[in-house]
Amino acid sequence: RVFNKRKINFFGGGGGFLFSLPHRHIERKAPMAKCNLSKGARIRPGNDIDNTLDLWSRSDVQTCMPWGAPVIWEGTFDARQYDEYYRKRNVTVGLTVFAVGKYLDVFLETFLITAEWYFMIGHNVIYYVFTDQPNKVPKVPLANKRLLRIIPVSRHQRWQDVSMLRMKSISEVIDIFVSREAQYLFCMDVDQFFEGRFGVETLSDSVAQMHSWFYHRFSIFYSYDRNPKSAAYMGLGEGDLYYHAAVFGGTWQKVKHIVDSCYQGIWTDKQNNVEALWHDESHLNKYFWLHKPSKVLSPEYCWDDVLGTQKDIFISRLSWAKKQYEVVREKTEKSWFSFFF
Ligand SMILES: *[C@@H]1O[C@H](CO)[C@@H](O)[C@H](O)[C@H]1NC(C)=O
Repeated sequence: RVFNKRKINFFGGGGGFLFSLPHRHIERKAPMAKCNLSKGARIRPGNDIDNTLDLWSRSDVQTCMPWGAPVIWEGTFDARQYDEYYRKRNVTVGLTVFAVGKYLDVFLETFLITAEWYFMIGHNVIYYVFTDQPNKVPKVPLANKRLLRIIPVSRHQRWQDVSMLRMKSISEVIDIFVSREAQYLFCMDVDQFFEGRFGVETLSDSVAQMHSWFYHRFSIFYSYDRNPKSAAYMGLGEGDLYYHAAVFGGTWQKVKHIVDSCYQGIWTDKQNNVEALWHDESHLNKYFWLHKPSKVLSPEYCWDDVLGTQKDIFISRLSWAKKQYEVVREKTEKSWFSFFF
C-alpha cells in the first residue's frame, strides 16, 4: 500500500453525514442477498465475456442481482481473459472527473497518478478533467494509448448549480467528444485514489457502484430521498441497493441517458423548490431503481478504509481519500462541496 491509511473525519465540517452512524454499527450486519442463478448459468447472450464470470466462487457475498446483472468481486473474474477480450476489440474507455476549486490542488494529481497505475491498464483511456483552472491541471505523464482532455467549466457558488452542472457538463462532453472517441465512460469523484486493479471486468451497458457504507445494512437504512415532493423520491420497500454516485458508468449512450435523466430530476426539483437528500446521488439511485444496471461493482471498487478490515473484502481497488474539509471548503464558498462528498 502506497498511501498512509488515515482516519477520515466524517463528523467535522458543516455538511456532516446524515447517516453518521458510527461505523461499528456495521458489525450488526444485514446478510447479503444470494445470487439465485443456477451454477454455470449463462448470464449474457452469445460469446459475451461476462459468461466467463464464476459467480459461484464467492458464496459469502451477493454475486448477482435478481434481474441477472452480475456483481463483480475478486475471485469471480479472470483478469487475463477479460484483458484479452477487450484488447482484441481495441476498446477505449473515457473517465470523467471534476476538479473544481481546491479539489484540483488537493486530489487531482494523486487521482491521475494512481489511475495510471491501475485504471484500465493496457487499454485506450481518455481522461476528461473538468476544471475551473485549466492551467493548474498537473502534468502527469501518461502511458502509451492514454490521453487527457481538459474541459473548462465555470465555478458556481450555489450547490444547486454545481449539482446540475456535473450532469449537464458530462452530457455535453459526451456529445462533443466521448461519442466520437470512446465506447465506454466512467464518471468518478476526484477525492479518491486507485490502489488495485480497476479493469475491463467493470465494463457493461450501465454500471452502478454498491456503496461500501450500506452493503451490510438493512434496506430501511438506505439513505434514499423520502420526500414525495422530490423527483428522487423513493418509497419504503422500493429500491434494490444503495448505490454510490462516486462511481458510475457504462456505454456512452447509457451514460448519456443516466446524466440527462438525473439532470431532468434535479431541474424539476429546482422548479419545485425542493432538493433531494443526497442531491445527484439521490437522483442516481432513483434512476438505477427504474433502470436496472447491467452490472454492479462490489465495494472493492470504491472502498472506505474507515470501515476497517472486512472479511468479505479481499482487495481495495479505489479508496476514498482523506476528506480534508478544512482545506477544500473555503469559508467564502458556502461549502457546496459537501454535497458531492
Ligand atoms: C485502436 O483504437 C485507437 C483509438 O481509437 C486508434 O487510434 C487505433 O488506430 C486503433 N487500432 C486499431 C488496430 O484499430
